[in-house]
Amino acid sequence: MKQKSEPVLAMMMAMDKNRLIGQNGQMPWHIPGEMAYFKSVTLGKPIVMGRKTFDSIGRPLPGRPNIVVTRNPDWTAEGVQAVAGLDEALEMAGNLAADSGAEELMIIGGAVLCRDAMPRTQRLYLTVVDHEYEGDTWLESFNWSDWQVISEDVRDPETTGGVPVTYWVLEKP
Ligand SMILES: NC(=O)c1ccc[n+]([C@@H]2O[C@H](COP(=O)([O-])OP(=O)(O)OC[C@H]3O[C@@H](n4cnc5c(N)ncnc54)[C@H](OP(=O)(O)O)[C@@H]3O)[C@@H](O)[C@H]2O)c1
Repeated sequence: MKQKSEPVLAMMMAMDKNRLIGQNGQMPWHIPGEMAYFKSVTLGKPIVMGRKTFDSIGRPLPGRPNIVVTRNPDWTAEGVQAVAGLDEALEMAGNLAADSGAEELMIIGGAVLCRDAMPRTQRLYLTVVDHEYEGDTWLESFNWSDWQVISEDVRDPETTGGVPVTYWVLEKP
């Protein structure tokens, strides 16, 4: 019988041309189609997020196990698993992915969690909004030179509210 392969550690993030990802605890933009794309990639896969990203979403995302990383041992929220660190999160998400047959476990931000997870991430779903926004949180752990391009999907601006958006899939060489 064919052995099941190990789930891949993937990350999904959206940034502007300066690597900006957040503003005052929220996304700096609202781009039509972006949430639907996020849902299509992550549905059915365990998602791992920092506690501040969970706060910004405000509820568990349905149809996927939600794991929240926090150093606060008293932190709880309905419908999510809280864990104390990245290792614990990846072990839990990896087991859930393997049990359900999901091919990937997904890191979904924010910048603090990505900084820790980036060196271990094998695949990156990166949305680049080719525009400059105002904000306070950047994906400083991302460098193009660390990645090779698997695919590049330039969206029709008519479907993105007129903003140039590209959906990249990148992998470590
Ligand atoms: N554009 C995008 O794709 C995208 C995606 C996600 C989020 N965002 C934006 O990013 C911003 C939030 O990001 P952020 O960088 O400020 O925060 P974050 O990474 O979401 O959360 C940081 C918190 O997570 C916990 N944490 C992170 N790494 C940990 C580790 N290794 N071990 C234990 N706990 C850990 C800590 O929680 P405690 O303080 O509870 O200990 C830490 O304070 C928001 O503006 C959000 O809208 C954007």
